[in-house]
Amino acid sequence: MTDTPTSIAQLVTPCCLIEKSKLLNNIARLSAHIGELGCSLRPHVKTHKSVDVTKLIEDGGNVTGITVSTLQEAQHFFANGYTNILYAVGIVPNKLATAASLIEQGCDLKVIFDNVSMATMITEKAAEFDCTFKVLIELDTDGHRSGIEPANQALLDIAELVKQSKNIALCGVMTHAGESYSCFTHEDQLAMARQERDLSLLAAERLRAAGFECPMVSIGSTPTAFAIDDLTGITEVRAGVYAFFDLVMAGLNVCGVEDIAISVLASVIGHQTEKQWAITDAGWMAMSRDRGTANHPTDQGYGLVCDITGNSLNDYIVYDANQEHGIIRHKNVDHAMNYNAFPLASVIRVLPNHACSTAAQFSHYYLVDKEKVIEKWHVTRGW
Ligand SMILES: Cc1ncc(COP(=O)(O)O)c(C=O)c1O
Repeated sequence: MTDTPTSIAQLVTPCCLIEKSKLLNNIARLSAHIGELGCSLRPHVKTHKSVDVTKLIEDGGNVTGITVSTLQEAQHFFANGYTNILYAVGIVPNKLATAASLIEQGCDLKVIFDNVSMATMITEKAAEFDCTFKVLIELDTDGHRSGIEPANQALLDIAELVKQSKNIALCGVMTHAGESYSCFTHEDQLAMARQERDLSLLAAERLRAAGFECPMVSIGSTPTAFAIDDLTGITEVRAGVYAFFDLVMAGLNVCGVEDIAISVLASVIGHQTEKQWAITDAGWMAMSRDRGTANHPTDQGYGLVCDITGNSLNDYIVYDANQEHGIIRHKNVDHAMNYNAFPLASVIRVLPNHACSTAAQFSHYYLVDKEKVIEKWHVTRGW
């Protein structure tokens, strides 16, 4: 760490800060909850794309393997000693050679698909390789995105296709209740979590009753992972965003604003007093284009503004953003801007809407303790 500044004020902006104590608390909170329910965590590393963060999650306990969203992440984490990896985006034939290479090197990689046509293409292509591809069937348990409905006949058709094919082994089912991001109360999050669990168990039971193996039943999203109260029959829970948390999670009351570990450090580069704006050097390239709180009761713009130590500056938001410019103003348009809080060349922190998309803008993180920089951590990127 010889060339890394020791104080936040010395950092070149924009850059990404992770408040280490908050990261550790967030990790401990979910590890404890899943442990109490007698289950295991398969953290989704797409949120942070960091081996260092993943090591802290492992230290938190109850971890079985990792989830990745790209094969590049799989390669990076495998090169850093992680072997039990679930690639949780539907596989296509053009990625099988990369997957095969990982498996041949000893990676216990698992891939997913969710329909008979893709399963047919994959089984045909898989026959060209000298390895076994482990697959999970992706389920749709909430109408949110991908997956096959648990009661659908196609579930059994895919299992039969896999059974008849060379080089493919069925490992189970998985689902992600992304609709939990629309659940604003704990009751709704709990109902969504139970639905995610029960429909996954239904699919597993149907497969087993028809004579197929289904050792893995993998579920999870951050809101449902925290809400769920009984995980009997579930083998693992996947969540990612919880490690950092963000304004979307705070808007759903899954965490408090004070729990958000990730922020973007920005410099004040201008004052537009007639418009009651302050301009910063953190636009949407730094914050990302994600406007995840736009449909929340509290719209946080492109991010909530905090002082250098991370304390919220009374409702100032990045209300608009260009590529490398952030425009700060009070949430209440009629409220005059307190320019004393934004001197030119001073730095502020901005809490993001969506931790995954903001983190993905950066090649490294500065781990911080209030105004002190503790470490600089590498982030992997790409596909
Ligand atoms: C397949 C899958 N599993 C797990 C997760 C983790 O959920 P969250 O981001 O809410 O932590 C995601 C997130 O998008 C996902 O796509």
